[in-house]
Amino acid sequence: MTPNSEPRENIPILAPRGRDALVAKEILRDANLRATICVDLGELFAEIRHGVDVTVVTEEALRSGDTRELISWIAAQPPWSDLPFILLTQHGGGLERNPTAAELTATLGNVTFLERPFHPTTLVSVVRTAIRGRQRQYECRKLSNEQESRVAERTAELAAANRQLVAQIRERESVEKTLLQMQRLEAVGQLTSGVAHDFNNLLTVVLGNLTFLERGLTAAGIDGKLFDRLGYVRAAAERGAKLTDQMLSFSRRQRLEPHAVDLNETVVGMRDLLQSTMGGTTHIETRLKRGLWSAMVDPVQLELAVLNLAINARDAMGVGGALTVATENLIAGPPNYPEEPPAGEYVAVKVTDTGSGMTDEVRAKVFEPFFTTKEIGKGSGLGLSQVLGFAKQSGGGVRIDSEKGSGTSVQIFLPRARADVAAPVAPAARPNADWHPKGATILLVDDDNQVREVTRAMLHELGHRVLEAGSGGAALEILQREAGIDLLIIDFAMPGMNGADLARQVRAKQPKQPILFATGFADRVALADIDESRIIGKPFVEDELAEKIALALTGNFKSNVVRFQR
Ligand SMILES: Nc1ncnc2c1ncn2[C@@H]1O[C@H](COP(=O)(O)OP(=O)(O)OP(=O)(O)O)[C@@H](O)[C@H]1O
Ligand SMILES: [Mg+2]
Repeated sequence: MTPNSEPRENIPILAPRGRDALVAKEILRDANLRATICVDLGELFAEIRHGVDVTVVTEEALRSGDTRELISWIAAQPPWSDLPFILLTQHGGGLERNPTAAELTATLGNVTFLERPFHPTTLVSVVRTAIRGRQRQYECRKLSNEQESRVAERTAELAAANRQLVAQIRERESVEKTLLQMQRLEAVGQLTSGVAHDFNNLLTVVLGNLTFLERGLTAAGIDGKLFDRLGYVRAAAERGAKLTDQMLSFSRRQRLEPHAVDLNETVVGMRDLLQSTMGGTTHIETRLKRGLWSAMVDPVQLELAVLNLAINARDAMGVGGALTVATENLIAGPPNYPEEPPAGEYVAVKVTDTGSGMTDEVRAKVFEPFFTTKEIGKGSGLGLSQVLGFAKQSGGGVRIDSEKGSGTSVQIFLPRARADVAAPVAPAARPNADWHPKGATILLVDDDNQVREVTRAMLHELGHRVLEAGSGGAALEILQREAGIDLLIIDFAMPGMNGADLARQVRAKQPKQPILFATGFADRVALADIDESRIIGKPFVEDELAEKIALALTGNFKSNVVRFQR
């Protein structure tokens, strides 16, 4: 039997000699118990394996046969099972002194000795007692099975809950990491934009005064070495202006002019520029997707971004190598990294190189402003920060795939334009001032004394009369006091009343008053709806100032409606 098979009342009897078996079977049948007679040990063992409740066997049958199989079966019973044996012994066997009986007790385990000839009632009662004991064993088995399956069920439930918990913890960790990274980039962005804004004021002072110094030296007839040195100062200051510009694009504070653009055209238009940037030894390939969606992007800034990537690729490849610029339509899922765009439809430009690739440590830091692995003087570490700032400000993102030794690909995601690219229109004629008015009265409003000083000097040079105010409040007072102010030049970012607030108050009283905004870029987003011709970016040069003033005074603005974002 397999000890686990269903219990049934079956009593095999092995008593090969004489009529013992028949007699026992009849006695049991009279007591309503079903017995089966076996002819030898083999048959008995087959019955046992099939499933029995109690076994009746004579002592001599056991002693004369090969019991090895039976004994190992008994030893291998599961914990709940202890099959009862009723052993029929010879009359006068003297069980208490019989070594064979002791041996049989040890091997059969659950054994009851019954001396022949036995009384029928004794046999029936011994068999019934054994069957009851066996029933108890079956109950134990049932309970233990139930318990086991309950334990297995609970274990499976716990394992599933555990797996879920581990997955949730992982997801939470990754969200926290992304959030932290985003907060870090945001904080660095705010810092850089603040620094850049202040730098632009400083550079306005440096560059503006340089112009006067150069003029002074020329007027005094001094040139040569001293003049060259001023040239170095100017070159350095202009490089500083370029850096602040890059910092501002990282902090997403640049002024973008997005419209629906066919990126295939942008890439084709850049081929020559790319080839001259990369040098003759690099193979350049373009893979342009047919049926490319239009992207909503400022194409000039995109060109700058692609150029930045190409320069990085050149630096990573050295001589030779291949650069691939590809375009594609993409439907992005949720982002895995903070630089990636939110889920949605994008048009992507991918720049792939066969260069050195990046280690994981470098890969983790590339978007940080000023992170560079290049030698001093070779890289400022602003290229990718600028690319990311531009992509994010455009509503997209960036994805980098790179492995040390296997090249790099950087993908810029740009939002799909809802409308298609409009038929090319002739670029709006840039308002040009061919007449530069002189002698205007200009109210200059800037909280930075040095910026105001150098701007005033430039305005004087241009032949204008200048009134100065260090704050919005002071400007309003002057406006009340003085009549005939032709133009206001207002610094946009001022403590207290800012440029937009001041302009609103001025316009409320004098709707036609011409106004120019000077800005260090940091607030260009707030100026997003104001016509470019009304904005002058710091650091500004005299020519540009003259041009914008002329446009303002002649009323030659693209639009007369000024809206402010708060
Ligand atoms: N295509 C590339 N292959 C290998 N490494 C790259 C690649 N692009 C960027 N990197 C790594 O990322 C760093 C940061 O790049 P990023 O463009 O921001 O700055 P940079 O190139 O070092 O300086 P900058 O662009 O301001 O001149 C690089 O110094 C370089 O280590
Ligand atoms: Mg770079």
